[in-house]
Amino acid sequence: MDPALNPFNPGSGVRPPELVGRDGEIDAFDLLVARSKSNTVGDRGMVLSGLRGVGKTVLLNVFAEHARRNDWLVIQVEAQPGEAGKKATRAKLARELELGARRLRGKPAWSFLQDAMAGIGNISASLGVTGVSASITTKHQGRADSGNLDIDLEELVEDLSLAMRKARAGFGLFIDEMQDLDEELLTVLLSVQHLAGQRGWPFYIIGAGLPNLPGKISEARTYGERLFLYRTIGQVNEEAASEALALPISRLGASLAPDALSLLLSAANGYPFFLQVYGRSVWEAASEKVISAEDAQVAVRLGTSDLDHGFFEARWQRATNAERLYLRAMAQDGDSPSSTGEIAGRLGKSTTKLAVIRSRLIAKGVVYAPEYGSIQFTVPGMAGFIARQGED
Ligand SMILES: Nc1ncnc2c1ncn2[C@@H]1O[C@H](COP(=O)(O)OP(=O)(O)O)[C@@H](O)[C@H]1O
Ligand SMILES: [Mg+2]
Repeated sequence: MDPALNPFNPGSGVRPPELVGRDGEIDAFDLLVARSKSNTVGDRGMVLSGLRGVGKTVLLNVFAEHARRNDWLVIQVEAQPGEAGKKATRAKLARELELGARRLRGKPAWSFLQDAMAGIGNISASLGVTGVSASITTKHQGRADSGNLDIDLEELVEDLSLAMRKARAGFGLFIDEMQDLDEELLTVLLSVQHLAGQRGWPFYIIGAGLPNLPGKISEARTYGERLFLYRTIGQVNEEAASEALALPISRLGASLAPDALSLLLSAANGYPFFLQVYGRSVWEAASEKVISAEDAQVAVRLGTSDLDHGFFEARWQRATNAERLYLRAMAQDGDSPSSTGEIAGRLGKSTTKLAVIRSRLIAKGVVYAPEYGSIQFTVPGMAGFIARQGED
């Protein structure tokens, strides 16, 4: 059918034509926003965790959008791994703090925020950033200017959230790929979130990341478990998956024959990214208004090939030969976690020797450690992809 009309456009963080299966999370966040209007305090932030391609970034964006519409102070950052990533993330945070506040110009919070603005200028130094915020007039010296990240961030969050409370709104810090946040910043942010809960500041961290994120949070701070509402984001159920495919198609005056739909559903296995990929390919493969099972068969082949050459291949290409051997050994366990000891056994090497390979694969974002002594692919279906690859 007309490719120009194809409603499906799979991509990281791209809003799907039909967002399905996330009502519980959306309701929980809407409630948080609603309660901020009446200055109800004591709510927790939220942490979304799950594999790649399940829809965490999209959901985080939906939340941020909702908060913005309700005149919240909204700051969005994506954490990046490594030393360079740490610098980049901190610089982004400093810049976003300034921009986020400026976006509220003309909103009820604007006048209350004026006094906190000096702190925004000052925080840049403790985040290791120079040259930001020269434009901000320092009315209120002595706030967030100690040069210690923990003290400064705490003061700044206090000033900003008290200003937001006066405006009957909240301050949301949205952090994507939160598992990659550097440990110092993570710890400081958790302490500030903790303090906010105790003091009734409407400051909420809303994080998204890989399944190891909740573990990282409680490792950093023992009270981390109680700071957030944790939601695991994963496959959507069959009804939701059907809607994700069928509704965008029917809105354009076409439809999926029942057997066509079931072929696509079983190929996508409830994973949001896969639903979008097979949705796109079935639109490409179809020629009639009622899309047949034959069209769907072609679409499954096309979609799988798209995934193999994109989503999976991108990760496979990043791996060296030694790393691929490691991934192949993991793939014997399918998409379930592997024991690092067993992998070592399969490869006839010691776990210590393999530790370097493992941490390089983690740094490349291909695998993560769900818990000590085990390792798992970050993307669903990676084991099947590896099985489809010939030896190289
Ligand atoms: N609830 C959903 N329903 C349908 N499609 C979704 C949903 N959430 C995400 N998607 C689609 O899945 C893909 C991956 O979403 P993304 O948010 O980038 O995942 P993640 O951040 O978990 O890796 C995108 O193409 C997006 O449009
Ligand atoms: Mg994402």
